[in-house]
Amino acid sequence: MLKIADLPRTQKYKSIAVMTSGGDAPGMNAAIRAVTRFGLSLGLDIYGVTKGYSGLLEGEIHQLNASSVANIIQRGGTILKTDRCLPFHKKSVRQEAANILTRKGIDALIVIGGDGSFTGAHLMEQETGFPTIGIPGTIDNDISGTEDTIGFDTAVNTAIDAIDRIRDTASSHDRIFLVEVMGRSSGFIATQVGIGGGAETIIVPEKKLTIAEVCKTIERGQKRGKSSSIIVMAEGKKPGLSYRLAADLTKRGYSPKVCILGHTQRGGVPTAHDRLLASVLGASAVSYLLAGKSDCMVGIQKSEVVAVPFKHVVTTRKALPAELLKVATTLST
Ligand code: F6P
Repeated sequence: MLKIADLPRTQKYKSIAVMTSGGDAPGMNAAIRAVTRFGLSLGLDIYGVTKGYSGLLEGEIHQLNASSVANIIQRGGTILKTDRCLPFHKKSVRQEAANILTRKGIDALIVIGGDGSFTGAHLMEQETGFPTIGIPGTIDNDISGTEDTIGFDTAVNTAIDAIDRIRDTASSHDRIFLVEVMGRSSGFIATQVGIGGGAETIIVPEKKLTIAEVCKTIERGQKRGKSSSIIVMAEGKKPGLSYRLAADLTKRGYSPKVCILGHTQRGGVPTAHDRLLASVLGASAVSYLLAGKSDCMVGIQKSEVVAVPFKHVVTTRKALPAELLKVATTLST
């Protein structure tokens, strides 16, 4: 069970705003609900910013009450909507955002998102002194300083469910399937899905495989009588790269089928795990802010909620545990 810190209240904040930013992730609604209801229970006014930093710049800020977040814990997506806001890369734009929040009487901002969103929050706080805190929400689980991110568990379960279905048809037709999962620069989804789905081969951005190595894993299975194979591949820089690998395999005499799971992994009902994680991190973000912590992200380390400075979060790359990949390779032989 997750351990939550009991923190003394040192700040006299009256109003806190919450937003979702970057790619949506199942469980973000549970985090919005937790921030709102925990904040209200402490006498705070809670505001929701619509559409991330873009909405903030347009003044899309509305007060939330307990009913605003009723019946959302089980819903995927984000009721606050989200966006990737390129203008926020500019210092003058971040200054304007802080001014808008201050004019609204808001004392601090909670950002639910990934490392791009945290970079924006970190720079805004450094440049303007406006307090910000992050809650890790991304299906990729690629955020440094936390072992877990909201949405990862749901995405992995969605992809494993798809692989179970693909395996039925793969084995019926004696086929090789290339299943492309999300993960722009990290292979957390691919590795966990590959292990949980019993894939013969896992291809991640952290450890490139040559076409000869991929063929070897297929042949290894064939030698012991396997007639079908599942290769799980992280999408990497852009979706669709699995078609290139399929073409290379075709040149070597295989007839692979490609299945790109894409955004199906981003939607859907959040798992119990993600709802709990989001609820605990949402409440903790409020607690840390009131205890005077900001310019940081709440995360999980060794089952405990911790506050990790944004500087560390946005400048460190989270490594994929090498032993996980080893386990994957061993189990697929
Ligand atoms: O960051 C989460 C993520 O789902 C990545 O895995 C993926 O590469 C990217 O977002 C897709 O973003 P978009 O929905 O903007 O195309």
